[in-house]
Amino acid sequence: MAFSQIRMTAFRNFQSASFEPHHSMNIIIGANGSGKSSLLEAVSFLCVGKSFRTARPDSAVNSGAEEFVLFGCNDTRRIGIKRGAGTFEIVLDGEKLTRLSDLARISPARVIHPADIELLTGSPAERRSFIDWGAFYHSDDFYDHWSKFRRILKQRNAYLKMNISYDYIDALDAELVVHAEALQEARRLYVEDITDTVSRICRDFLPEYEFGFSLYSGWDQKKGLAQQLKNSYERDRMQGFTSFGPQRADLRITVDHSQVQDVLSRGQLKLLLCSLRLSQCCFHEKDCGTDCMFLLDDFASELDQSKREKLADYLFSLRGQVFITAIDESETRFFQKGSCDIFELDNNVITKR
Ligand SMILES: Nc1ncnc2c1ncn2[C@@H]1O[C@H](COP(=O)(O)OP(=O)(O)OP(=O)(O)O)[C@@H](O)[C@H]1O
Ligand SMILES: [Mg+2]
Repeated sequence: MAFSQIRMTAFRNFQSASFEPHHSMNIIIGANGSGKSSLLEAVSFLCVGKSFRTARPDSAVNSGAEEFVLFGCNDTRRIGIKRGAGTFEIVLDGEKLTRLSDLARISPARVIHPADIELLTGSPAERRSFIDWGAFYHSDDFYDHWSKFRRILKQRNAYLKMNISYDYIDALDAELVVHAEALQEARRLYVEDITDTVSRICRDFLPEYEFGFSLYSGWDQKKGLAQQLKNSYERDRMQGFTSFGPQRADLRITVDHSQVQDVLSRGQLKLLLCSLRLSQCCFHEKDCGTDCMFLLDDFASELDQSKREKLADYLFSLRGQVFITAIDESETRFFQKGSCDIFELDNNVITKR
């Protein structure tokens, strides 16, 4: 969904601030520490109910306050979020929401922020969440299998730590395998279907390289998960967790058959990151027929003028609402050719240019 109004109370450096974003392109400009990332964090919070900056969302409460309140709306929808050390409330159109997945369904969003480079250089967990974001929208039953799988895996790991007899584990495994295989199939389908879009956008930004994308399921497909769980029982019991399964999946990305961080420069890594996130938005809009919001913190860093221009063109081509941040207006000159609103941050106040 696109917001026509956003209000923040006691959110990071903002005591009380509001603004009316453009339905399409929004440029947020401000000096270091003016609150650009915080504003993007607030918009993203309204979309997914959590922060992309911290696993402790109450750290986003303005120091000196007990809780923050965010509100976003358009002509048809209203979302309110209240969060403090002991409070967490999401209200959608006057009704309390209990599951974050319900919020995510109505407001798909992709964010690129400086630490997001971990998608390329960090652990497989980052790339699993990349695939799972897409599979969630691409396959109707993905979320159901994902939540059931997680519940059973948690129980299995608890049994392993308690040294419980193999019979109990064996009974759990039959159920675990059903959800694991369904998860793998949904992930496989998403990776297969998005690959053309990803390859096209990667080629456009980085034509000098050949990229490879392959999904590792987390177990040997030929042996089968049931057999591998059985074979690894002793090892799993010793280590207290499950060695094989979709919780170990990865999206393996190669550049000219080598690891990305061995080949690409920092700017090129950012371009690859932008290509992957843009691909998800473009594919989502085509696949699901609904808008996907795009949030890009620190738009210009690491990119030369020609790449900034190309990125701006892609952002204008998205149907969903876009928010980008920049320190200096000169970094965003390529956006002046299209329709956009520029907001300046100064002294915790948001002013429309
Ligand atoms: N919980 C909080 N309460 C009050 N202020 C906070 C809180 N968390 C962060 N801040 C402050 O908010 C300000 C804005 O931080 P933010 O990271 O949004 O700035 P920025 O404009 O993105 O800066 P940069 O250009 O360096 O990325 C900083 O001065 C930071 O110290
Ligand atoms: Mg910042």
